[in-house]
Amino acid sequence: MSRDMAWVSCLQLLCGISTLIAYPLRPRLELDVTPRTTVLFKELSGSRPFSGSALNYSTLLLEDEAGLLYVGARGALYALQASNISSSGHTIDWEAPKDQKQLCLNKGRDNKTECFNHIRFLQRFNSTHLYTCGTHAFSPLCAYINSRDFKISSEFEEGRERCPYDPAKGYTGLLIDGQMYTASQYEFWSTPDIRRNSPNPTLRTEEAPTRWLYDADFVGSALLKESVNSSVGDDDKIYFFFTEKSQEYSPSFSYSRVARVARVCKSDRGGLLTLQKKWTSFLKARLVCSIPDYEFHFNVLRSMFVLEGPRTEDTMLYGIFGLEWKNIKSSAICRYSIADVQQAFNGPYMESPEGAGTKWTEYTGKVPDLRPGSCITDQLRARNINFSTDLPDDVLHFIRRHPLMSRQIRPLGQRPLLFKRTVDYTKIVVHKVTALDGQIYHMLFIGTDDGWLHRAVDVNGQLHIVEEHQLFEKPQAVESIVISQKQMSVYVGSLSGVLQLPLSTCHKYASCFDCVLARDPFCAWDGKECVEITSRTDRSGLIQDIINGNTGCEKSAADDPVLHRTRSVMAGDDVLLQCELSSNLATPQWMFHEQELQGYGMNLGYRIGTDGLLVIQARPDQSGNYSCFAVENGVRYQVVVYTLILRQDLPAGSPVHITHPTQSGKPDLPPYNQIMSQKNMEAMYLSLITILGGLCLVLTVVLLYVGFCVQSKRGMYSVRTANQANKKRKRSSQMELRTISSHCNGKSDTHDGFLQIVPGEAQVSLNKELPPAPPLPPNVLNCDSEYTNGFPASLPSVLRKMNGNSYVLLRQTDGDTTSPLYYSFTEELSRILEKRKNTQLCSKPDESSV
Ligand SMILES: *[C@@H]1O[C@H](CO)[C@@H](O)[C@H](O)[C@H]1NC(C)=O
Ligand SMILES: *[C@@H]1O[C@H](CO)[C@@H](O)[C@H](O)[C@H]1NC(C)=O
Ligand SMILES: *[C@@H]1O[C@H](CO)[C@@H](O)[C@H](O)[C@H]1NC(C)=O
Ligand SMILES: *[C@@H]1O[C@H](CO)[C@@H](O)[C@H](O)[C@H]1NC(C)=O
Ligand SMILES: *[C@@H]1O[C@H](CO)[C@@H](O)[C@H](O)[C@H]1NC(C)=O
Repeated sequence: MSRDMAWVSCLQLLCGISTLIAYPLRPRLELDVTPRTTVLFKELSGSRPFSGSALNYSTLLLEDEAGLLYVGARGALYALQASNISSSGHTIDWEAPKDQKQLCLNKGRDNKTECFNHIRFLQRFNSTHLYTCGTHAFSPLCAYINSRDFKISSEFEEGRERCPYDPAKGYTGLLIDGQMYTASQYEFWSTPDIRRNSPNPTLRTEEAPTRWLYDADFVGSALLKESVNSSVGDDDKIYFFFTEKSQEYSPSFSYSRVARVARVCKSDRGGLLTLQKKWTSFLKARLVCSIPDYEFHFNVLRSMFVLEGPRTEDTMLYGIFGLEWKNIKSSAICRYSIADVQQAFNGPYMESPEGAGTKWTEYTGKVPDLRPGSCITDQLRARNINFSTDLPDDVLHFIRRHPLMSRQIRPLGQRPLLFKRTVDYTKIVVHKVTALDGQIYHMLFIGTDDGWLHRAVDVNGQLHIVEEHQLFEKPQAVESIVISQKQMSVYVGSLSGVLQLPLSTCHKYASCFDCVLARDPFCAWDGKECVEITSRTDRSGLIQDIINGNTGCEKSAADDPVLHRTRSVMAGDDVLLQCELSSNLATPQWMFHEQELQGYGMNLGYRIGTDGLLVIQARPDQSGNYSCFAVENGVRYQVVVYTLILRQDLPAGSPVHITHPTQSGKPDLPPYNQIMSQKNMEAMYLSLITILGGLCLVLTVVLLYVGFCVQSKRGMYSVRTANQANKKRKRSSQMELRTISSHCNGKSDTHDGFLQIVPGEAQVSLNKELPPAPPLPPNVLNCDSEYTNGFPASLPSVLRKMNGNSYVLLRQTDGDTTSPLYYSFTEELSRILEKRKNTQLCSKPDESSV
């Protein structure tokens, strides 16, 4: 690569990054959804873990009728009770023998990951046996398992045609009527292939003169029984999902790979002479997942879930897509209809013009009148073509050269369901739930690369993330997810084990509003508590609102208990009245003497933060009742009432009394103006872009000097912010709002809040290093020394998101203490505040608190 080209691509990358961050300046698409509630590892309830002596629990096979969950790991297979995977199960130890491992090491393979027997395939073969394949230290083997006693029942079979050597290689496979369909790049020098392996006839993809697959990386496959009730006598089809090198012409240079769906017919037998032992029905088309008018193409497919409908044509595909730049965390979820996929396969073909290196374009010539690539249908049978081996040569010649369809498959709604910055989703499973309104909603269970599970509901093409769960103490990628309707459980496989979680935990929603605002199709309010609707036979009194998520609680909220607290403060001292909001989407509103408290001027005598109300230098006229309301989705409900008592002399300690809950819930539904105006956000992003633009320029110059890009093959940069306050949770943000910040101690890192671009093959590490967070505009850092003076840098922290698009720092980093105790912050802070006498007051209050 020439130096010029290198720096052009660098610029392209940098400007790409700024576009990514500058995103909200464009017309707003509310696609980046905030999870409504955050459940940390310690707060997980009802979870049942399993881990044996093995690692990499990546293959899960659920047999719901039998109540068994089969697990394939590294060097072992397990049969677990689906009702409780923590209770005892059966194990098959199947590790590669020492000499095989030695051979693997001699080949120069990685002794930490590759020279083991990773179970890659585990499926039911017949009523008595399972079939499994493992990488077996770079020499794949397969075997039958007798499922009655869970023992390997046969001699091992050669696996090199069925299972990849490399445990990390994309792979997918299905056993259908005793035939095994697999897709992978099996050996590292071979080309990728979709195969039907056993028994005969074996079929493969074609490699010459036209390569059907181009460096393909497979993520999934599915059988669709399209023969059932087919009016044209169609065949069942097997679909494969993958990403491969782009062959077609594209006006943009921003990507080189594309997501694809390919399909073959189940009854395909290959051609007689032409395409002998090759598929005659292989067709592929491009899956597009991009945001209209944006330069971002989510072109790397990471996971695909096929959600079957009552009829095959109702089938929907849910895919997780990522960017080609591996070091920028970002995900999109797109939803497709199978009808659109079928339409593409019935549309025009692409062709590769003669001459190497030219891109594919739409084929406009004559197409044989027996549709090339079609399954054997009644129309063909009427012409005496009963099998693919009867197909005429011109059809086979055509399909050999035209496997790619011209029409691209666009997502339903022409845009992603969800676009998430700073999150890398890895796996998705979709489950249908019938809600109280009788409608069937699609509930998405989405795993991340750092061990979180998002539960989201698809409401008419709008995604609402009900909650996010931290599944593992140590960040690790979610490698597999399966759902059992019978057990009402979701099972998640990862590096260290398998975790079983309930499909829903409604009881954690404490009030009617909390229950309804959650918009969890499993949950409804019964007048006293939030319950699973399946637990009730009489559903008449239940309250749920999935569509809007805010109605039904007007009456019942009057009975909601409201926390009442009393606070004493010495005149002239400060006191923090904390308001704990369970929802990341809620904003606090404070009322004092029937009036809403607003703003944050020093002369007002108080300051409102996302974490509470700070009464500054309390005056006698400030004593009385303060109410905190949560405002969310157009609903306002009371959370806590404080009675503030002013004293002339303060007794030791600062007691907090929690008295009986009062019956003072006052529901009303005012349209609520968002606290942060669009203008503010835009101004902030403008400054972001300015900073980035500057950086772009500086870096380009630096890069030219260093000539770094000449050495690197691809864009190898990692973008990080050294944002100290962000350490604890990797929920980074577009911006952060703080009331009290450790930046004010003067100890903070000089890089704080600025974008650092670090050259190198940056592996985004899971724990300490944070995903790219856009820099903070300088004025946000301009905090008030008043409130931080003397504060330890070790206050607990949690990040909270506001207004649907930005997390706000609620609690500070607490060093190594992991306990996220809300109250300790309140107690500690108010004690410090109250002890401290009128020390240096800052003339300018912290503008970052809203
Ligand atoms: C699951 O099994 C484990 C081990 O037998 C037991 O400790 C646990 O209580 C069980 N959990 C449930 C919910 O039954
Ligand atoms: C892998 O090889 C390295 C270097 O040869 C050695 O230090 C390490 O202990 C080996 N690890 C395992 C798990 O065998
Ligand atoms: C299932 O397949 C296994 C392995 O080929 C065979 O031994 C067994 O008899 C089969 N069982 C049935 C019920 O066909
Ligand atoms: C298995 O776990 C190791 C960590 O021990 C990880 O590096 C590797 O990527 C995992 N392999 C697969 C195939 O998931
Ligand atoms: C195709 O099947 C039909 C009906 O089974 C049969 O009559 C016909 O001879 C077959 N054609 C060929 C080419 O085998």
